[in-house]
Amino acid sequence: MSRFAKFAWLVLGYNVLVILWGAYVRATGSGAGCGSHWPLCNGEIIPRSPTVETLIEYSHRLTSGLAALLVLAMLIWAFRAFPRKHIVRFGALMSMVFMVLEALVGAGLVLFEQVADNVTMARAVWMAAHLLNTFILLGWITLTAWWASGGSRFALRGQGSAGWGVFGALFLMTLIGMSGAVTALGDTLLHLGAIEKNPLVGETLLALRIYHPTLAIGIAVYMILVLTNLALARPSPTILRLALGFNGLYLAQLGLGALNVWLKAPVWMQLVHLLITDILWIMLVVLSASLLANQPQARAIVQEPKASITP
Ligand code: HEM
Repeated sequence: MSRFAKFAWLVLGYNVLVILWGAYVRATGSGAGCGSHWPLCNGEIIPRSPTVETLIEYSHRLTSGLAALLVLAMLIWAFRAFPRKHIVRFGALMSMVFMVLEALVGAGLVLFEQVADNVTMARAVWMAAHLLNTFILLGWITLTAWWASGGSRFALRGQGSAGWGVFGALFLMTLIGMSGAVTALGDTLLHLGAIEKNPLVGETLLALRIYHPTLAIGIAVYMILVLTNLALARPSPTILRLALGFNGLYLAQLGLGALNVWLKAPVWMQLVHLLITDILWIMLVVLSASLLANQPQARAIVQEPKASITP
């Protein structure tokens, strides 16, 4: 594996850690630790006499700032190491675009005070949008690392029903994630004792929590049937391993989700549930890219010369 590819996987791993720390900020109600100031923290570059909430929020800003710098370094390196129009350059560029958007969403959360014990429907929309952008950002970093490690590029056209199957899996996974983010908000507000601040919205958010597990369980059927079928129709050792691994981990995540509910979503369990989600998402992105790159026509073209030798 090239040094660039190793670096790209490292950037991906580091971003997952930053995401987990971001969830810790939310789960501990520390999002207003720097007041409604951004990028300054309580009007200061380095907070003096910080509270625990300030330390948690400030360290998230520092670690996510480093994540942005790492993605920028990956972009510059990609443009130096790969020729014009190379797919790795495109992946690194898209990673940078969604990193900038991620920073803007994070800044928006703070500036519009959609943090700590704020109980509004607008916050639920922000949470879902934040998760969507995080997924897309992780997706592009994953693709950059995957392509730099020798993964083939793929065309979106001419994929037939397989294309729709893959698109469906990615879309449904995003839907589960976004519904999870709303569920996490309900649980956080409950833990912070904030429901009473706005009982109508608070109770609605608590009632919405049922949709996330329902969706996750229902979608399991799609994931297992469609991904297994696609993997068997377009097999390669990587595809078969990824499909098996993804489906197994997805089923395990259903169990962890149930445990999460049973334990009443303690912070550590929220982090474990989110870590598994990120791993599932990364596996699904690589599986999707591999499936789309492994078109039967493409394989037939490669095999054609051999076939013509045999009498
Ligand atoms: C493969 C299926 C699943 C995926 C990908 C998934 C994903 C997620 C995500 C992304 C969050 C938001 C995490 C955050 O923002 O911190 C979440 C939250 C949550 N999920 Fe799931 N989930 C799945 C299945 C389930 C199931 C089956 C249950 C319950 C039976 C469940 C229960 C919860 C609960 C209680 C929360 C809120 C507390 C927390 O943040 O951990 N999940 N889930």
